[in-house]
Amino acid sequence: MAPTTVPTPVELRTSFKSFWDKYSDRPDISAMMLNNNAEQLEEADRHDILSSLPCIKGKDAVDIGAGIGRFTTVLAETARHVLTTDFIDEFIKKNKERNCHLANVDYAVGDAVNLQLKDGSVDFVFTNWIMMYLSDTETVQFVQKCLSWLRPNGHAHLRESCSEPSTGRKAASVSMHDAAAANPTSYRFSSLYINLLRSVRMRDENGDCWKFNVDWSCSVPTYIKRMSNWRQVHWLVKKVPADKNDVVPSFDELLEKLSKTWNDVQKEWDSVLDGEEEVITDEIVASSLSILSEPTGIFVYTPRRISAHLHVNSHTLAERFSTNIWNVESEPYYYRTSLTKANTKKDQRVRFAWHSKFSQSIDYWTEKAAKFDAFVATEFLSENDDDVESIKRILNPSAPIVLIEPVDKIDADAITKRLDVAGFKSIRVKDVTDELTQSCEDFKQKYNIVVPSKKWVLIQATA
Ligand SMILES: C[S@@+](CC[C@H](N)C(=O)[O-])C[C@H]1O[C@@H](n2cnc3c(N)ncnc32)[C@H](O)[C@@H]1O
Repeated sequence: MAPTTVPTPVELRTSFKSFWDKYSDRPDISAMMLNNNAEQLEEADRHDILSSLPCIKGKDAVDIGAGIGRFTTVLAETARHVLTTDFIDEFIKKNKERNCHLANVDYAVGDAVNLQLKDGSVDFVFTNWIMMYLSDTETVQFVQKCLSWLRPNGHAHLRESCSEPSTGRKAASVSMHDAAAANPTSYRFSSLYINLLRSVRMRDENGDCWKFNVDWSCSVPTYIKRMSNWRQVHWLVKKVPADKNDVVPSFDELLEKLSKTWNDVQKEWDSVLDGEEEVITDEIVASSLSILSEPTGIFVYTPRRISAHLHVNSHTLAERFSTNIWNVESEPYYYRTSLTKANTKKDQRVRFAWHSKFSQSIDYWTEKAAKFDAFVATEFLSENDDDVESIKRILNPSAPIVLIEPVDKIDADAITKRLDVAGFKSIRVKDVTDELTQSCEDFKQKYNIVVPSKKWVLIQATA
């Protein structure tokens, strides 16, 4: 067998540029979305992205890999100034033509990997499909540079095709990729981007350390609705002070993790969790929610700290109650497996988001003034020492709450008091150690799944 040759960085860069050069003669939305049916998706996709952005009124923004400027126009309508840039001359020409009525836009033809901006010179870095066209080395450098370019409290938006092209794994007829031609695109796991964004640090000239807060990770709704694809993932991050004792990881360290360590860990978790049909909490959740009548939305929170297997089966819940489910994960690797499951099941009622903290998921929905009809969670009390009542902000009055908590000692009075003080009503605490231990035992026999042995309580209440 002939040895596989690893392309040099220059060859790789050239291959990305050649890939896009092929589309330079058609500077239109189909080329931007690499989809022959782009006109059926474009407006909704653009709306999804724009409606998820922070307010940039009076701010300085940069749109990198902007293409013909699908987003530049709206960014420039609010921002003080927008620099819009792409490495394809014809795209920037079209971008200029489309936005010539806007006086606050500067245009630049150039490769994002060579983009030079002053540190702390912008409030908003906007990207939509760029890191998938960068090598791992360039991706690490790019994320590091985004952090330095931003002013404190500035935001960056990033969106990538994770694990598969936007048109799906099968060579769909809508895809504009030439199946016979080489495709250098990197369809990285969503978890890799989350890990990278969370790991990067920089120290400024004053010795202050900075990092990104990843506010959220969500799928782009239009791709779920129209393409049954949950793996169009986007992130909103904010530049915030890091702990002054934080160690700034070296470039080599981050590169090693992005190209190897995190990939390996993800594959391990995929092998454990992919194909998981039943969950140990299935029966208990179903019986606890049986009183729920015609809910339109259930909020599910599953941090899975004590075990990857301790969570809630959102697909079963959606089936059973014919309702929409918003399931918040807080471990990037499990989040990616949930997106895989969603892509397999193709039940559009089930959505997954990732937040590092529960409070971020509350902020996310509070901003949208959304209300859910029920809250189902595992490890909610153990993970949220001082933030139990905030869930009420996104629940309808009297919405039922079902919590499954692993505990060291069953203290029903203490739990009741804690929830009572937080303003919950009709609180019932039940020892379900026997049921859940039996369920864990069954799963051990059937699937070789081991969940640490614990005492368990089921808590039911209303908001
Ligand atoms: C999938 S299109 C998305 C365009 C635009 N962001 C949008 O969503 O409509 C990707 C764009 O990134 C540009 N691009 C890819 N790699 C780039 C790089 N290294 N530097 C500058 N532009 C790049 C391509 O030319 C193309 O216009």
